[in-house]
Amino acid sequence: MPASPTVAVIGSLNMDLRVQTPRLPVPGETLIGTGFSTDSGGKGANQAVAAARMGAAVAMLGRVGRDAHGAALAQALRTDDIDTTGVGEDTEAPTGTAVIVLMPDGENSIIVIPGANHRYTPAHVTDSAEVLRNAKVAVAQLECPLDTVRAALTLAHGAGVCTVLNAAPAQPLDDALLAAVDWLVVNEIEAAMLTGLPTDTPVQIEAAAHALRRRGPSQVVVTLGAAGLLHIGPDGVLALPAPRVTAVDTTGAGDTFVGALAAGLADGLQITAALTRAQVAAALAVTRLGTQSAMPTRAEVEVFAPAS
Ligand code: RIB
Repeated sequence: MPASPTVAVIGSLNMDLRVQTPRLPVPGETLIGTGFSTDSGGKGANQAVAAARMGAAVAMLGRVGRDAHGAALAQALRTDDIDTTGVGEDTEAPTGTAVIVLMPDGENSIIVIPGANHRYTPAHVTDSAEVLRNAKVAVAQLECPLDTVRAALTLAHGAGVCTVLNAAPAQPLDDALLAAVDWLVVNEIEAAMLTGLPTDTPVQIEAAAHALRRRGPSQVVVTLGAAGLLHIGPDGVLALPAPRVTAVDTTGAGDTFVGALAAGLADGLQITAALTRAQVAAALAVTRLGTQSAMPTRAEVEVFAPAS
């Protein structure tokens, strides 16, 4: 059990079933793949693990089924010293699963079957209210019901906790939810879906980020994969290049970034330092096969980019 959690993550837990294939099959075709593996996943749990490996004391809030996958996912979090008191067991739905198709260039396609994640309700958030109020940073994504995400972020924001929303998978967001968000993190596809604006060029991406910021969050980050990121905050616009690495598996790279960013904010790092450390963590994660198993420790990040 960690010290009093400084990072509370509200979100999904999935068992990832990873298929490696030379290409996608066409309809009606049977294709021989090149590999199969399972790993602990789910955007919420991934972000919790990424934050914990950066040294943060983390609590995970979410829901699994009463089954072997659920038990394994919760145990994996505890191995990373994450408090799982707020991970409930559902007797009606199975643990979430994700089928990940991984291509030779490291890119992936994912289908999520939410299961118990979709039975994590605002009432469950209320049960964990103390954890949320006492955290320094609260982090959510969109693989749990929107009402639950809104309830959690509103509660945390109202208590003065810094709130981070990773709006993935993208879906329309209401102004009440966005008003409770301090940091909004999206990729360029999610930025386009949330704003209805094109994000094909740097100028368009910046315009979309400004549009998102006008809806409430004071800090907006658009992650751009190998092209780095764009950050817009009260002090203006910051573009950061990404560390150059060879990608093996990009699954969970965004989650590694968000979790490491949350840990940096909880540590009180300056914004540029927090963003840079998160970028290095995500870059290291893509050099390895797997989801949570690929996420680096703080020591590995500091070897790659020594702390200044
Ligand atoms: O972001 C990657 C994650 O998305 C995977 O771990 C999968 O479970 C889905 O939630």
